[in-house]
Amino acid sequence: MNPTLSELEARATRKSTAFGGDAHIVCDNLVRIYKTEGVEVVALQGLDLVIDEGELVAIVGASGSGKSTLLNVLSGLDVPTAGVAKVAGMDLLSMSARDRLHYRRSVVGFIWQQTARNLLPYLTSRENVELPMKLAGRRGGRATELLELLGVGYCADRRIPEMSGGEQQRVAIAVALANSPQLILADEPTGELDSETSEQVFDALRKANRELGVTVVVVTHDPLVSEQVDRTVGIRDGRTSSETLRREGAEGQIVAEEYAVLDRVGRLQLPRDFMNALDMERRVRLELESDHIGVWPAREEPSDD
Ligand SMILES: Nc1ncnc2c1ncn2[C@@H]1O[C@H](COP(=O)(O)OP(=O)(O)OP(=O)(O)O)[C@@H](O)[C@H]1O
Ligand SMILES: [Mg+2]
Repeated sequence: MNPTLSELEARATRKSTAFGGDAHIVCDNLVRIYKTEGVEVVALQGLDLVIDEGELVAIVGASGSGKSTLLNVLSGLDVPTAGVAKVAGMDLLSMSARDRLHYRRSVVGFIWQQTARNLLPYLTSRENVELPMKLAGRRGGRATELLELLGVGYCADRRIPEMSGGEQQRVAIAVALANSPQLILADEPTGELDSETSEQVFDALRKANRELGVTVVVVTHDPLVSEQVDRTVGIRDGRTSSETLRREGAEGQIVAEEYAVLDRVGRLQLPRDFMNALDMERRVRLELESDHIGVWPAREEPSDD
C-alpha cells in the first residue's frame, strides 16, 4: 500500500503538529510509576516510541527495563502515569471504560509467555479460537483458516494438553487474531520454548504480519531475534535507547545496523560497554566535526594544591 502524494502531503503537515503524527503506535514521553508500600518505582521514564502500521518490531532489554510495563499499557490493561499513548488514533489514557473494552476485544490481541495463560485446556484449538469471536458476537467461521495459516491446522480438534508448547503458542496467536485486530502484542512468547520451536512461533508471527497486515510488537530476551524482524528497539531503564534496522544490501545480503536513539531534545544513551571501556562517567567532552560529533572522557581537572 503505497501512500499517494496527497496522503504524504497531509501526513507531513500533521507531523509538524504532534510527535509521531498519525503513526499506528505513538508513545510520547510515557511515564509509569508504581507505588508499593510507600516506595516508588519508575518503570517507564519518558519513553518515546513510534511504530507504523504493518511493522514487525521486536523490543529487547534487560530484566526490569520496562518491557512488560510498556506492553501492558499498549494492551489497555494498565494506564500510564503521564505522557501520551495512542494506538490507531485512540488515546489510551483518556478512553472510557466502554471504549477500553472494545479496544481490548477487537483492536488489540495479546499473547502471554505462559502458554497455559493463553488457552483454555478443556477446549479444542478451534473452540479456543472461536471463543473470542463469539464473545464479540461474531460467527466463528474463520477459526480453521487462521489455524491453517499459522501451520497448526492439524491441531484444530486437539485439546490443549495434546499439543507441544510451540503448537500451543501458534494456536495462541490464532486466538489473538480471532477478532481481526489491527495490532498484536506478545510478551516473551518463546520464553518457555527451545530455539527450533521458537523459530516456528516467529514464523507464525511473521505470517500474521505479512499476510494479514497486522502490526506486531514482540518482547523478547532472545538476542538473535533481530535476525527475524525488520526493526529491533532496545529499552534501557524505562527508555528506548537503541534501534537495529535490517535491510537488504547492494548484493542482496542482509545488513543489520545498530543506532542509538536520539530524543527530541537531543538526549541519547551511550552503550554501557562503550562508557566502561573509556572510563566515562558523569560528564564527557563533545566536539563538533564537519560530519560527526566526537565524544571524549572529561579531562582530569588540575588540582589546586
Ligand atoms: N505491579 C508492579 N508493582 C510495582 N513495581 C512493578 C510492577 N510491575 C513492574 N514493576 C517494576 O517496574 C520495573 C519494570 O518492570 P517490567 O516488568 O516492565 O520489566 P521487564 O522489562 O518486563 O522485565 P522482565 O524481562 O524481567 O520481564 C521493575 O523495576 C519492576 O520491579
Ligand atoms: Mg517482562
